[in-house]
Amino acid sequence: MQRNNAVEEIKSRCNIVDVIGRVVPLKKAGSNYKGICPFHNEKTSSFIVSEQKQIFTCFGCGATGDVIAFVQKYYNLDFLDAIERLANEYGITIDKSSFRKNEKNDKLYEINRDAANFFYKALTTKANAGYAYMKNRGIEPATLKKFGIGYADEKWDSLYTYLKSKGHDDSMLLDLGLISNSKGKYYDKFRNRVMFPIINTRGKVIGFGGRIIGDGEPKYLNSQESPIFLKKNNLYGLNLTKHDISKENCAILVEGYMDVISLYQSGVQNVSASLGTALTDNQAALLKRYTDGVILSYDADDAGRKAALRGLDILYGAGMNVKVLHVTDGKDPDEFVKKKGKEAFIELIKKALPYADYKIEHIKREVDIATTEGRVEFIKRAITVLKALSPSEADIYIKKIAADMKISEGAIRMELYGNDGGAVMNAQALGSGRRNPGAGSDAANMSGQASVPKAIKNAKPISAIEKHLIKITLTDASYYHKVAAYSYIFRNEKASAIWKAIKSVYREGEEIDAEAVREALEIGEQDVFDDIMKNTLVAGYEEQIYLDSVRRIEISEMKKRESEIKVMLSLADEEENGENIKELTEELMEIQKWINEQGGSQ
Ligand code: UTP
Ligand code: MN
Repeated sequence: MQRNNAVEEIKSRCNIVDVIGRVVPLKKAGSNYKGICPFHNEKTSSFIVSEQKQIFTCFGCGATGDVIAFVQKYYNLDFLDAIERLANEYGITIDKSSFRKNEKNDKLYEINRDAANFFYKALTTKANAGYAYMKNRGIEPATLKKFGIGYADEKWDSLYTYLKSKGHDDSMLLDLGLISNSKGKYYDKFRNRVMFPIINTRGKVIGFGGRIIGDGEPKYLNSQESPIFLKKNNLYGLNLTKHDISKENCAILVEGYMDVISLYQSGVQNVSASLGTALTDNQAALLKRYTDGVILSYDADDAGRKAALRGLDILYGAGMNVKVLHVTDGKDPDEFVKKKGKEAFIELIKKALPYADYKIEHIKREVDIATTEGRVEFIKRAITVLKALSPSEADIYIKKIAADMKISEGAIRMELYGNDGGAVMNAQALGSGRRNPGAGSDAANMSGQASVPKAIKNAKPISAIEKHLIKITLTDASYYHKVAAYSYIFRNEKASAIWKAIKSVYREGEEIDAEAVREALEIGEQDVFDDIMKNTLVAGYEEQIYLDSVRRIEISEMKKRESEIKVMLSLADEEENGENIKELTEELMEIQKWINEQGGSQ
């Protein structure tokens, strides 16, 4: 059966109500079914399954899609695995080879698999330097086997000879970086090294890292990038540890191969490594399939601290809950856990510093807070950290910093909201206009929209609202102007690039050419665009989803205004600003009433 046919077959045979009903209790509600959303915490039922349209949507968290998307999301599977699971459950036969997009890639995977087996045999069948080296580093045979660790001997052509005997092509071996060509002769790239196969979450060997036995340069030699190996898309060890990571809802992210292996052997198994490069957005997205909690445990040196700071922002930007841990003994987690054992490492995990604490601690280390200039510098830089936080998080840190640095909370709030939250605070702080909480467009303008600082913009993960409004506009251009009125909500960098592209393609009275929009985007943006086109489903529900999005935007604007007013009230002086306090209090009450009403009607 061809790929498309198989997908269609599955969609038509696996009724979404039946599939979801097995894991989520559903009640009939009109022509649809309702239940408690399995993808976020809720008490009321915002999760709707439409039998007619064969899709699910959650008005609470924005999760939406067809039966395959549900199985992917619920069981943490990628597209093909989801298809396979459904096919098995419903007794549908599919020809898996029809899913293979690329036969050349299959060949490349096969060669890597052969190479991995060759290295593994070399390490395990007779005495060799690789085995001795790993034994000396405390790695047990069971762990070697689990990770498929192997040995590349010192000869120039052991692997080459073996792979030729299996009939593989020189050009493919070159593509994979297993051999190089010098003066018409081929020789092995990996020699005298312990070999760590890098295996993706689908179980394919995509590349290798080879550690030199003893000293030498480079210490680690990694496979070059190839059609099947993009470093920025993969994490080491995740193939083995993804279930532990899901189960614990936490990934411990380390720098090196040996850190993963040692921690794993010691019993800390929810671990993975970023392949020696700076952590990328794609790696964060990959981890996010399995967890939204990450503990960065990079080396205790300067490079490790720098990498942790960068990784922290990437992960935080991907919407993850992230903490940092630095080992207190030894230079990296590998050394630490060998010396101190699993329990001691778990103690460190418990004490890991949350995002903001870590950043603030870091600033403290860099400035001299004994001097006035140092303290001013500290506050200035701490404010940039606070700006990336939600108001309620920021509030906690304002209190902490105030107590810690002996500065008034008011002064920090002034710095934080006074300068840049800008227009709103200055014009209105202790001044004139009250706003009418009920009026839509007014509410929509409340956020000081123009000035989302770049750093925060980057850090904002794309929201369900952004995806929905983009998709609605593309599906039905008559929504263009309606959505444009709220276009300031496109705060995610890629969403706002997509909106810009839509604006440039839009012609009054015509449908929007999605292909032209796509053309106008950069590659990374295209990925997000494709995801929206494929996975954000609005057809038939445009108006409902649009209205729901608008309501959410307004509630969030109101909440923002609510916290601004609270800040202003905390700063106002009863003697001087009595009149303002009265007005602000009334506005606050009105807003709170309005927010409550919205909640009540959900
Ligand atoms: P480290 O130099 O911290 O290695 O590099 P390590 O894990 O402590 O190594 P051991 O314990 O001495 O064996 C961390 C990671 O950076 C990448 C590798 O992925 C390594 O695991 N790296 C390091 C390279 O890719 N090439 C290098 O030459 C060095
Ligand atoms: Mn090490």
